[in-house]
Formats: sequence, C-alpha cells, structure tokens
Amino acid sequence: MMRIDIISAVPDSLSSPLNTSIIKRAQDRNKVEIVVHNLRDYAHDKHKQIDDKPFGGGPGMLLKPEPFFECIEKLLSERRYDHIIFPTPGGKIYNQKMSNKFSLAENLMIVAGHYKGVDDRVRQKFATDEISIGNFVLTGGEIVAMMIIDSVVRLIPGVLNDSESALNDSLMDGDIIEAPYYTRPADFQGMKVPEILLSGNEKKIKEWKEEQSKILTENWKKINNME
Ligand code: ADE
Repeated sequence: MMRIDIISAVPDSLSSPLNTSIIKRAQDRNKVEIVVHNLRDYAHDKHKQIDDKPFGGGPGMLLKPEPFFECIEKLLSERRYDHIIFPTPGGKIYNQKMSNKFSLAENLMIVAGHYKGVDDRVRQKFATDEISIGNFVLTGGEIVAMMIIDSVVRLIPGVLNDSESALNDSLMDGDIIEAPYYTRPADFQGMKVPEILLSGNEKKIKEWKEEQSKILTENWKKINNME
C-alpha cells in the first residue's frame, strides 16, 4: 500500500478533502495510507511556537526550521521516501507526467509551508522535488499537497472503478483533451446532444470523438500559447 505523509501547520484544512469521495474510498479500500502531521506537535517551547521573524527584515513570519527537522527526521528514521515534495512557487510546474511518476512510489512525503514561507534550510536539507502548480501565489502548500495527492491516488490500481477509468483521460497519453460528454435528457432547454451520439453507430461515434478531441486539443494549445 502506498503511504503519503503530509506535514502542515494547518492540518485541519486537509481533513475534509482527504475524507471525501474517491480519496476517502481509496483509503477505505487500503490502496493508500495518508498521514497528516501537525507541525505544532513538534514545537517544544512553552508557547509551542512554530513561526518567527525573518532575518534581514521584511513583512510576515516564517516557519522555524526545528519542528520540520524533527518531524522529517523522525519519518526518515521509520521508512525510505521515494520523494520529499516541497510545494513552492519557484518549483517545476506540475503536470500529468509528474503525477504518473509519483504514483509509482511506495512512500511520499509532502512538506507544506504556510505564512510567508519556511526557513530555507528545510528545503536545502530535505527537498527532492520542488513543485509549483502555476504562476500564482497561494497562502500555503496544503492545496498543492491536496492537488498532488488527488492526481496521484486516482492512478493507483483499484482506486477508480472501471466506469471511472483513468486510462483514456484528458492528458493521460500526452497532451490530449477529450471530447465532451453528455447524458440525458437528449434535449435540455432546447440544447440538443450531438445527433451522432444518439445514432448507435459505434464507428461514427468514435470518429466524432477523435475529431472533437483534435479540435479541443488544438484550441487548448492555442489559448495556452503552447505552439
Ligand atoms: N505556494 C504558494 N504558491 C504556490 C504555487 N503556485 N505552487 C506551489 N506552491 C505554492
């Protein structure tokens, strides 16, 4: 079973997304074990302080190195980690290829920063994969951790049911966007499902899906300046 450890200063923010829908089901089916560690449990001074002012000045508070070091070193003493992932705006932009790679791991660790950031020595010492989810700034790494977990866990065999198969997803085999889907009613407020999908002609339907996929993929590349 894959194991994923997340270290966070705001662990409560992860409990609902980790205990809902397919990610919850994956844990119930023993396909993945997800363990959240509260950074504050590793602060030992009177006030359980985890943050402090940055050297050199500037606004905001930084997360102190000691609680991270203690928590990460404890985990490293217990098992080998294939990847120690640091969400950071300066990291490599996340994509499907990276989630495919992470999905082959036995043990993953995700170290989420919060507030202004984390003392850089934590990254220097432990990070194996620095990951950004795009050119924008979030308040913390928890949402990034959740995105990575969601994209990885759904690839573990036995997590999705056949009907939810990940195999022909958008982006699964390279940068391909899938054709749109429709369900009943065939006519909704005058908006009709494409005739071909109601025809029962499997060959024609397959051709239509391929054609739609091509159009959407070209549009996607164009609007994202990808060629
Ligand atoms: N932390 C704050 N913003 C982020 C981003 N865009 N990607 C990864 N980690 C982040």
